[in-house]
Amino acid sequence: SSYVVGIDLGGTETKIGIIDHDGHIVEKAIIPTQVSKGSNDVIRRIAQKVNELVDEKGMRNDILGIGVGSPGSIDREKGVVIFSPNFQDWKNVPLAEKLEELTGFKAYIENDANAFALGEWAFGKFKGAPNIVALTLGTGVGGGVISRGELITGSKGFGGELGHVIIEPDGPLCGCGSHGCLEALASATSIVRLVIEYRKRYPRSSVFANEEITAKAVFDSAKSGDELAELVVERATRALAVGIAGFVHIFNPNVVIIGGGVSRAGNYLLEKIEKKIKSYVMESFWDTFEIALSELVEDAGIKGAASIVYFRLR
Ligand code: BGC
Ligand code: NA
Ligand code: ZN
Repeated sequence: SSYVVGIDLGGTETKIGIIDHDGHIVEKAIIPTQVSKGSNDVIRRIAQKVNELVDEKGMRNDILGIGVGSPGSIDREKGVVIFSPNFQDWKNVPLAEKLEELTGFKAYIENDANAFALGEWAFGKFKGAPNIVALTLGTGVGGGVISRGELITGSKGFGGELGHVIIEPDGPLCGCGSHGCLEALASATSIVRLVIEYRKRYPRSSVFANEEITAKAVFDSAKSGDELAELVVERATRALAVGIAGFVHIFNPNVVIIGGGVSRAGNYLLEKIEKKIKSYVMESFWDTFEIALSELVEDAGIKGAASIVYFRLR
C-alpha cells in the first residue's frame, strides 16, 4: 500500500486526489465545499467522494492514509480544527476522527498553507530548499514557513499565520476579527470586496462589465489600464510587498513562493510586488531571496496534504 489521499479543504472548493509516493496524481476530483451547510455535511460529502474515488479504482488496500490541509488553527495530535476564520461554525471539529469513521482510513491534518509549503518542499520547483516562506492567496491568505528544514509551528502548533499579520491597523475588517490583516487586503475575497466598495466612485469601471466579479477579472482590468482595478491591485500588491518584506527580515528565506487562485495573475502580480519590495527590505537581504509563483498551483494543496501522511509516518 503506497498511495495516499490528499485533501485540500478550501473556502470555495475542496480538491481530493489519490497520490503516489512521487507526488503523481492517480485520480482527482473537485467538489464545492459549501461551508454554509455546516461542518458535518461538508465532512460527510468529502468522505463520500474519497470512498467513491478509491473504490472506483479498486485501491482500498493500497491506501496508507488520508492527509487533509485545513484552514485555521489545528491540533495535529488530536486531528481537530480548533478555529477557522472563514469557516463560521468550525470550532473544535474532530475532522480526522470523523474522516476515519466514514472512510476507514487513518487521517492526518495540517494547516492548509503549511501543507502547501510542505508540498512545495517535497515536490515543487524549490524542492528541498531549507528555508521557504510560502503564501497562499485564495479565499483567505495562508502562510507556511520552513526554516532550516523544519516546519515552523510554535507552542500550540498554530504558528505560521502570515495572512493575519497586520499591514494597515485602520484597514478593512478581516474574517478573524482584526483590521487590515494581509488577508483583508490581498485575498481573492478582499480584492473583490474592495472593488465593490469603490463602486460609487468608479461606476463606469470595466470590472463591472463582468457577470461575476472575481479577483482574476480585477487583475485583467488592471492590466488593461482600468483605474479602479489598478487602485485595488496597487493596494493589494503593496500590502503583499510590505508583508513579504517583514517575512524576509524574520526568516531570511531562500525563496518566497506564492500560490492560490490569485497567483494565476502570474508575472503581472509578481512584477508589481518585486517593484515595491526593495524599498522595504534592508540592503543586506536584497540578493538573498527570490519571489516565485508556485508551479504546482492547482495541485499544490492536495500534493501537500498527501505529503503530510508521508511526513507523519516517517
Ligand atoms: C486562515 C489560515 C489559512 C488561510 C488560507 C486564513 O484565514 O487563518 O489558517 O491557512 O486562511 O486558507
Ligand atoms: Na500556516
Ligand atoms: Zn485577520
